[in-house]
Amino acid sequence: MKKPVKTQELDLSIASLAFGGRGVARQDGFVIFVEGAVPGDRVRAVVTHARRSYAEARVKELLNSSAERVEPKCRHFGVCGGCSWQTLSYDAQLRYKQSQVTECLGHIGGIRGFEVDEPLAAEPLWRYRNKVEFSFSAGDRGAADSVKAIGRSDASDAAIGTGLDLGFHLPGDWRRVVNIQDCLLHSETTNAIRNAVRDFARGTGLAAWEQQSETGFWRHLVLREGINTGEIMVNIVTGPGDFPDAEGFTKNLTAAFPGIASLVWSINDTRASVATGFPFTVLAGRDHIFEEICGLRFKVSPQTFLQTNTLMAERLYRKALEYAGLEGHEFVFDLYSGIGSIALLMAKSCSEILGIEIVEDAVRLARENALANSVTNSRFISGKVRAALKNIELDRRPDLVVLDPPRAGASKKEIQRVIELGAPRIVYVSCNASTLAGNAARLAEGGYQLIRTGAVDMFPHTPHIEVVSLFERS
Ligand SMILES: C[S@@+](CC[C@H](N)C(=O)[O-])C[C@H]1O[C@@H](n2cnc3c(N)ncnc32)[C@H](O)[C@@H]1O
Repeated sequence: MKKPVKTQELDLSIASLAFGGRGVARQDGFVIFVEGAVPGDRVRAVVTHARRSYAEARVKELLNSSAERVEPKCRHFGVCGGCSWQTLSYDAQLRYKQSQVTECLGHIGGIRGFEVDEPLAAEPLWRYRNKVEFSFSAGDRGAADSVKAIGRSDASDAAIGTGLDLGFHLPGDWRRVVNIQDCLLHSETTNAIRNAVRDFARGTGLAAWEQQSETGFWRHLVLREGINTGEIMVNIVTGPGDFPDAEGFTKNLTAAFPGIASLVWSINDTRASVATGFPFTVLAGRDHIFEEICGLRFKVSPQTFLQTNTLMAERLYRKALEYAGLEGHEFVFDLYSGIGSIALLMAKSCSEILGIEIVEDAVRLARENALANSVTNSRFISGKVRAALKNIELDRRPDLVVLDPPRAGASKKEIQRVIELGAPRIVYVSCNASTLAGNAARLAEGGYQLIRTGAVDMFPHTPHIEVVSLFERS
């Protein structure tokens, strides 16, 4: 077969799933990654990109449906960029996630021969997120063209607005968003709040922020909801300028949604299209909300990280605690400690725990959270892991190091410093199996053997998976 070319149509059998979630077909030595296809499907696909050794395509027509295919539940599916695995049965999702973890560790890290726990299935499967981030965009009919371009002929126009839009980005289009009416990943209440904020923003006549011209006002909306406390945080992120009728907006929104414990407004006047990390003004309530995890109460601010699936975070942390195998006498390091979620849980089972975290506000909250939960054997240092470990003076070697880095994993130098700490055991909590695998390879070079891994599904209907791993120094 000749190399496929852009816009060419191909009939393909989908053999497997790639890391990241696309279907994989092979034709005459060519690998074709197919958006919207699941293993077992036979599809007619349109080539969207042709590279030297592989091509990318999207499904145009389903010729034969896989036994693992299910009907997507969300009305925005196929238009919205999220939850791409909704068409795969949940059993299959979990099986593929588990095999991607072991494949990453084997192929990228060269790590084999470790114990693999049964993956922990997510519960519930829908409306599980405690945080969602939406973007505003100028509503235009062009968005409907994008919908046609991604092959969703049945997308209702209701999903694509005409005024100011608020929702998730169209796949691959950072300028336009799908006007979300009901996202099944978060609660009905927070869906209603987003829709009310959109109605208000439309009524102001102010435009959405435009990246290119750096004009406009409305940028993002971040909603957080304490699943175990019912407290809601609404964070509106705008460009520079006065917030129109802030008083009326605040009064109406908090009256309509009494769960709002914190309503804050942040100004992002930079080019970076990010929704958090900026100073904010409290419009109503507090500058934080509370969430409870594993019986501990945590203060969470707009600047700080919290696992986005509260109920599965409890199971994740309990697994990390189990892997830690603490007996009570240990000195523990919690690297990338956030607001202290893991540290405060482990503190009860060890003699002393030291957290290191880059975000100062998270360190402040970790200290407050320790006090509020009567934890007296924890300390938190603010700074980058690499620098903090370099400067720290220790009179005792840690017995255990817990690592919970962001998606990019720990850097080479950070892993080197961890190895130099010489702890007999490491528990690594990862949200990205490929960076875990790279870090595991370095730990292996430093004398650490991977003993056991356990996948915990925090993100059903997406290809993401969380993994806890135990390493021991040989
Ligand atoms: C995946 S979160 C884990 C937080 C916490 N362990 C939890 O479970 O809530 C990663 C954390 O690492 C922090 N972080 C990112 N880069 C860092 C660095 N170089 N040094 C220290 N902390 C960092 C982030 O601010 C974030 O709080």
